Amino acid sequence: MVRKVAIFLSAVIMLVFFMGGCTDRARDMEQVSKNERIIIRFSHVVAESTPKGKAAKRFAQLVHERTNGRVEVQVYPNSTLYKDGEEFKALLENNVQIIAPATAKLTKMFPQWQVFDLPFIFDSYDEVHRAMDGQVGKRLFALLEQRNVLGLAMWDNGFKQMSATRPLKSVADFKGLTFRIMPSPVLARQFELLGAETKELPFNEVYGALQEGEVDGAENPLSNFYTKKFHQVQSHLTISNHGYLGYAVLTNKTFWNSLPEDVKRVLEETMKEVTRWERQEAQRLNDQVLEELKKSREINIHYLTDKEKQQWQEALHPIYREYADIGGELLREIME
Ligand code: LMR
Repeated sequence: MVRKVAIFLSAVIMLVFFMGGCTDRARDMEQVSKNERIIIRFSHVVAESTPKGKAAKRFAQLVHERTNGRVEVQVYPNSTLYKDGEEFKALLENNVQIIAPATAKLTKMFPQWQVFDLPFIFDSYDEVHRAMDGQVGKRLFALLEQRNVLGLAMWDNGFKQMSATRPLKSVADFKGLTFRIMPSPVLARQFELLGAETKELPFNEVYGALQEGEVDGAENPLSNFYTKKFHQVQSHLTISNHGYLGYAVLTNKTFWNSLPEDVKRVLEETMKEVTRWERQEAQRLNDQVLEELKKSREINIHYLTDKEKQQWQEALHPIYREYADIGGELLREIME
């Protein structure tokens, strides 16, 4: 008898669960019919736990909530959909609807974007944001519109640090080393002026190249450095803050213009909110990673001294004159 009651009760419980599931699904279906649903594919190349990775996921989640599932943002991290060198073309062809490449990756097509790669151009996040959110950002986004690409936001990763297989303190320490760079002529020139060689590589190949000794060093903000475990294949890290790495969050303009006005509004507002959050999160994550690296003692960490910084800056000075021919106005605006 007791057994029969137990069987009956479990059957009732299962039925209740099953019906609950059905009601949820039914409610979802009521809210958005299949034809109404809008899918946005968001592709990027870094880990999910980086500032960009986390912000992309947060954007997707908030958009889902705020549109009751009508808009689904599908996030593809870690180059799983498109890798460096592929994603911009995919965006132009509307095979992906949002990408957020490091600004350096736009510079071959739009040389003015190299302004963000200039070494020691920004001293603080505040300066970076004033440029991004002001005239500089506006002008740079206007260039992209000529290719039917719309800038939605600019996100931070953070200030870049140098790593290598030997200590990097004075300029002389760079001699004979090869550094992985992103595809930006200013970055190639930066290392050339420091006396090093360079090799352009997509982000997903950096770990292997460092491990195999194909390159000896790299530059990256610490959240990228740590999440891709570069500390396992690099013995020395210099906290140099010598350059900045940020992202242009981009969409296909034709796709964007095809969206209903109310959806656009939600996407725009959510993007603004996530951008504010992302910028704080980027700083927090980079600081946290530095503490973790210090604690782990897996890598030798050196803080660039003022004297060393001055020596690097002197060596790098010609790069400003050279860039002025490409983006003099942007440079002036930042300097002012
Ligand atoms: C890199 O290639 O080093 C970075 O731009 C990757 C990224 O998107 O942060």
